[in-house]
Amino acid sequence: MVSLRSVAALAATMATLASPTLANKAVDLVVKSSGGNASTPIMYGIMHEDINNSGDGGIYAELISNRAFQGSAKFPSNLTGWAGVGGARLSLQRLDKPLSAALPVSVNVAGCGKKVGLENSGYWGIDVKVQKYTGSFYVKGAYDGVFTAQLQSALGKKEVFGSVEVASQSVDGAWTQHNFTLVPTKAAPNSNNTFSITFNSATSGLTNQKFIRFPGGNMLMGNTIDTFWKWNETIGPLKDRPGMAGVWEYQLTTGLGLVEYMEWADDLGAEPILGVWAGLSLDGAFYTQDQTDFAIQYALDELEFLTGDVSTKWGAVRASLGHPKPWKIKYVEIGNEDWLAGRPTSFESYKKYRFPMFLKAFQEKHPDIQIIASPSVFDNMTIPAPAAGDYHPYLTPDQMVSYYSRFDQLSRQNLTLIGEASSTHPNGGLGWDGPLSSNPWWGGSVAEAVFLLGAEKNGDKVIGACYAPGLRNLNRWQWGMTIVQHAADTALTTLSTSWYVWRLLGLHPLKNTLPVTIKEGGINPLFWVAGTSEKNTTVFKAAVYNTTEPVSVSLQFEGHATKGATATLTMLTGPADPYAINDPFTRVNVVKETTSKLTAGDGGVFAFSMPMLSVAVLETDS
Ligand SMILES: *[C@@H]1O[C@H](CO)[C@@H](O)[C@H](O)[C@H]1NC(C)=O
Ligand SMILES: *[C@@H]1O[C@H](CO)[C@@H](O)[C@H](O)[C@H]1NC(C)=O
Ligand SMILES: *[C@@H]1O[C@H](CO)[C@@H](O)[C@H](O)[C@H]1NC(C)=O
Ligand SMILES: *[C@@H]1O[C@H](CO)[C@@H](O)[C@H](O)[C@H]1NC(C)=O
Ligand SMILES: *[C@@H]1O[C@H](CO)[C@@H](O)[C@H](O)[C@H]1NC(C)=O
Ligand SMILES: *[C@@H]1O[C@H](CO)[C@@H](O)[C@H](O)[C@H]1NC(C)=O
Ligand SMILES: *[C@@H]1O[C@H](CO)[C@@H](O)[C@H](O)[C@H]1NC(C)=O
Ligand SMILES: *[C@@H]1O[C@H](CO)[C@@H](O)[C@H](O)[C@H]1NC(C)=O
Ligand SMILES: *[C@@H]1O[C@H](CO)[C@@H](O)[C@H](O)[C@H]1NC(C)=O
Ligand SMILES: *[C@@H]1O[C@H](CO)[C@@H](O)[C@H](O)[C@H]1NC(C)=O
Repeated sequence: MVSLRSVAALAATMATLASPTLANKAVDLVVKSSGGNASTPIMYGIMHEDINNSGDGGIYAELISNRAFQGSAKFPSNLTGWAGVGGARLSLQRLDKPLSAALPVSVNVAGCGKKVGLENSGYWGIDVKVQKYTGSFYVKGAYDGVFTAQLQSALGKKEVFGSVEVASQSVDGAWTQHNFTLVPTKAAPNSNNTFSITFNSATSGLTNQKFIRFPGGNMLMGNTIDTFWKWNETIGPLKDRPGMAGVWEYQLTTGLGLVEYMEWADDLGAEPILGVWAGLSLDGAFYTQDQTDFAIQYALDELEFLTGDVSTKWGAVRASLGHPKPWKIKYVEIGNEDWLAGRPTSFESYKKYRFPMFLKAFQEKHPDIQIIASPSVFDNMTIPAPAAGDYHPYLTPDQMVSYYSRFDQLSRQNLTLIGEASSTHPNGGLGWDGPLSSNPWWGGSVAEAVFLLGAEKNGDKVIGACYAPGLRNLNRWQWGMTIVQHAADTALTTLSTSWYVWRLLGLHPLKNTLPVTIKEGGINPLFWVAGTSEKNTTVFKAAVYNTTEPVSVSLQFEGHATKGATATLTMLTGPADPYAINDPFTRVNVVKETTSKLTAGDGGVFAFSMPMLSVAVLETDS
C-alpha cells in the first residue's frame, strides 16, 4: 500500500449575488421589534457521497490512486494508475502472508538495475507545491539499501521537483512499513506529475549475485580453432556483427556482446570475471607456442578495449560506442576447462606454455588483475602464484556433501574460484553416462548448500562460487538444471529450489569466519559455518543432510550474545519428496521459507530444530 497526502484544496465556489437595480416599483418595509416566533438557527451544509471522484481523488487528501490494489467482485483488483520504472514489470499477487486481511493483494516489482520501481499518476495528475507531503509504503522481502520516493513531471524530461531517500528497514519474510516526508524544492508548473518509489535491485540480482563470469564456458572456446568467441566481432552496430556458430547447437547473433555483458554487470553491480580465449577449441585443437603470441595479443587488445583510456586505439573504439569511461576489470580467466577438451596433450600445452605465457604477459601489462587459470588445484595442476584456479564440480548430492571439507586442505596460495557448480545427477546416477536431472531438485539443492558452507569456511582461499549455468529458455534442451528458467510467457519464469538456497546464503556474506568448538554431537548430519557479517553481527549458516531425525541445535555466540539477546532465524525446508522440483508448469514452489525471532536463554544459548533436508541462517540482531 502506498499513500501520499497533502491538504486537499477543494474548490468551493461562492456565487456572489449582484444587487438588483431599482426599478419603477418602490417597496417600503418596517421590521417589528417583537412578536415573532422562537426558532433555532437554520444550518446550511452540503450532502456528500463519492461521486465523480469527489471523495477519493477529491476531498480525501490521498494523492495516490489505486494505492492498495483494492478490488471487489464488481471491480477486480488491477494496476490502473501504476506503471513500472526502469523497465520493471509489475504484477499483482495474493501472497500467503498478505499485508492484512483487509488488503490481500500486493504488487510484485520485477526488475533489474540501480533504479527500478513503480510510479503512480495520481488522480488525473498530482499537484506539486513547496509544502510538506507525508507518505508511507510497505515492503516485503529483504532489501539492504535505500528507496527513493520522488515527485516528478510526467512530461518531457520528467523534471524532478522533490525526492527523499528512505533507508530500507525491510527483512525477509515480513512486511515493514516505511514512513517519509517529502518537501519539493520547486513547485510544478502544472498537475501533470507522478509519484515514484524506486530502489536498487542490482544489490539483489538473481541470487544476490556479486559477480558474472562470461562469456563462458564452452562458448568462449568455440567448436573449432578458428571459430572461438571473437570479442571484436561482438561490438558496434548490429549490422556489423556476423554472429558465430554457437557451441550448443544453434547460431548466435552476438547481440549479447562484450559491451552488453559489461552493461549487464554494471546494472547488477556485479564484478565481471572475464574469460579470455586461450588457444583451445572444443574439438581439442590447440595453439602452438608461436600461435599463442597471437592469442595473448588478442586478449590484451580486449583488455585495452575495456580498460584503456580514450587515447589508446581500442579505448577510442569503446568511446565511439558510447562508453568513454574505462571499465575496471579485477579478474581475468585464461581459457575455459583447459584440462578437458583434447586431453592429455592440450592440457600439457596449457601447463607448459599457454598458461605461463599468458600469466607473464598479464603480469607485465596488468599487474593488478587477479589471473585465474581455467583448471583448479583439484584438476592436477600446480598453479603458479599469484594466479588462482577455477574448479567446476558437477556432482551427485552425496559427492557434493562429501566435499564439505575439500577446501580445508588448501593453502592461502591455492586461491580458487568455484566458477561452475551444481548437483547435476541424482545419487546412484552413472556419472556423465547417467541421467542428467532436468531441474534442480530439493535434495540436490541442500547438498549444494553443504558444499557451499565448506567453501565459506575457507573464504580466505575461495574467491566465490557460482551456480552454472545461470539461465535457460524452457524451449531448448541442451542442458538440465539452471538456477532460473524462462520462456516467452513471463509467467513461466521459475526460480528453482537452488535459487532459494544460493540466495539465502548470498544474502549473509561473512567478512570473517569464526571457529566453532563442539560440546556435543558433530559434523554430519548438521553441516555449518560461522562468522561475522559486515554489520558486525554474528552469523551461523547450517544445512541438514542425510538423517531420519530432526537435529536440535544449541548455539552460543561467545562474547557476543548473553541471555535475552535476540537473533533472526531464516529457515528453508522442502517437500517430503527430496526429488521434488519447482516446476514451471505447475508453478508450485516446493521450498518453504520461514523467519522467526529467537531469544537466547540461559548461558546465551539459542536453541532451534532443523529437519532433514533444511538450510538455515541464524543472525544476531546486533
Ligand atoms: C409565527 O408563527 C405563526 C404561527 O405559525 C405565524 O402565523 C406567524 O406568521 C409567524 N411569525 C413570523 C414573524 O414568522
Ligand atoms: C459524473 O458522474 C456521472 C455518473 O458517472 C457522469 O455521467 C458524469 O459525466 C460525470 N461528470 C463529469 C463532469 O465527469
Ligand atoms: C481497473 O479497475 C477499475 C475499477 O476499479 C476499472 O474502472 C478499470 O477499467 C479497470 N482497468 C482495467 C485495465 O481493467
Ligand atoms: C508510520 O506512521 C504511522 C502513522 O503516523 C505510525 O502509526 C506508524 O507506526 C509509523 N511506522 C513506522 C515504521 O514508523
Ligand atoms: C498534461 O499533459 C497533456 C498532454 O501533454 C496536456 O494536454 C495537458 O494540458 C497537461 N495538463 C496540464 C495541467 O498541463
Ligand atoms: C576480429 O579479430 C580476428 C582476430 O584478430 C580477426 O581475424 C577478424 O578479422 C577480426 N574481425 C573483424 C570484424 O575485424
Ligand atoms: C589427477 O591425477 C590422479 C593421479 O594421476 C588421477 O587419478 C586423477 O584422475 C587425476 N585427476 C584429474 C582431474 O585429472
Ligand atoms: C598450493 O599452494 C602451495 C603454496 O602454498 C604450493 O606449494 C602448492 O603446490 C599448491 N598446490 C597446488 C596443487 O597447486
Ligand atoms: C547417510 O547415512 C547413512 C546411514 O548413517 C550412511 O550409511 C551413509 O553413508 C550416509 N551418506 C552420506 C552421503 O553421508
Ligand atoms: C564493525 O567493527 C569494526 C571493528 O570494531 C568497526 O571498525 C566497524 O566500524 C564496525 N562496523 C559496523 C557496521 O558497525
